[in-house]
Amino acid sequence: MSDLSNKHIVLGLSGGIACYKAAELCRALVKAGATVQVVMTEAAAQFITPVTMQALSNRAVYVSQWDAREPNNMAHINLSREADAILVAPASADFMAKLLHGRADDLLSLMCLARPVDRVPLILAPAMNREMWQHPATQRNMAQLTADGAHVLDVGQGEQACGETGDGRMLEPDEILEDLIAFFQPKVLAGQHVLVTAGPTYEAIDPVRGITNLSSGKMGFSIARAAREAGAVVTLVAGPVHLPTPRGVQRVDVRSALDMQAAVATHVNAASVFVATAAVADWRVADVAGQKIKKDGAGGSTSSGPQLNFVENPDILAGVAQSARAQSGALYCVGFAAESHDLLQYATAKRERKGVPLLVGNIGPATFGLDDNALLLVDAHGAKELPHASKLTLARQLVAEIARRLTPV
Ligand code: C5P
Repeated sequence: MSDLSNKHIVLGLSGGIACYKAAELCRALVKAGATVQVVMTEAAAQFITPVTMQALSNRAVYVSQWDAREPNNMAHINLSREADAILVAPASADFMAKLLHGRADDLLSLMCLARPVDRVPLILAPAMNREMWQHPATQRNMAQLTADGAHVLDVGQGEQACGETGDGRMLEPDEILEDLIAFFQPKVLAGQHVLVTAGPTYEAIDPVRGITNLSSGKMGFSIARAAREAGAVVTLVAGPVHLPTPRGVQRVDVRSALDMQAAVATHVNAASVFVATAAVADWRVADVAGQKIKKDGAGGSTSSGPQLNFVENPDILAGVAQSARAQSGALYCVGFAAESHDLLQYATAKRERKGVPLLVGNIGPATFGLDDNALLLVDAHGAKELPHASKLTLARQLVAEIARRLTPV
């Protein structure tokens, strides 16, 4: 199931050069399963044609409140009543000023005013020049629109169409899509602060070589995203992986197990939930060579290679689980176990050994690097399977399971 299936989104465009991004956004919404009804102001139609938006949304576009296609001539009522959300992207400075005053002299503003406030959320993706963005009038308008119940998205930062550089660009289409999907997720972790470890660690042998493992980090990154979608403040301590940071998540990049332990120690006191998904190396090289280790030149089978000595890495999760905050229940700890067989037996034993209330088992070789997984949740009451699904779907289910086990904040 796609993230926005069964959702009907009214995509409003007000006038601004960011209208060119609305075409891509419309496609992304449709691809995510939404039905999209486009409504444009006349100013928006100066930047991109209704024909383009009609072709991408596969629906007739509305521009005028006098549109005679509606039998009752009330496009503003009909369009807003069937929407799960009205998303205005781009929302120009002028359009937001107009909304603020409850003015309604074109179809889009009329429709925003006429929407049932408690049933149809209004989401605004501002887009404007940096001076317009910083102007006290704009900032005041945004604060008031938020107080009036609108959900105002962030703006991007960078080079602007006018040639200036600063805040005020509209978010990229994929960022708006991620924010919209998050908007619809239940806020079961509101008020919580979730700390997640993810990915492998890398243990150096010398300045150019090291030992790592096949963890992709995808499960941990999905959990960080799902926790954020559920309303938590999220810190993600990531080993070396090439994955984009989920929106709204604070990411701390680390390399070795000792780096990861230090980063966790820095952030764990602010956390109320700790989810350890990282595949932390069990051992590190005892004496890391300061210079690249050279071959001895003997060649072939007569060369024995360097002798490496190992020391065991600290168990980050077990250490955190023994802390006073975890023991008192102020910090809820969740561990992961990647096994190749006898999952229930090993996960149950690992839960007890690590001293955590919830241990999540998965079959490691079957999931490393993939987008899908299946989980087995083991707690003091028994085991529960989360059947095969995408890692993001499973992460959302796991977040709901964690939320159910937390004492109210
Ligand atoms: O003992 P094992 O590595 O199988 O345990 C897996 C769980 O413990 C995972 O949650 C993992 O993130 C965590 N762990 C850790 N520090 C280690 C080893 C594992 O936090 N050194």
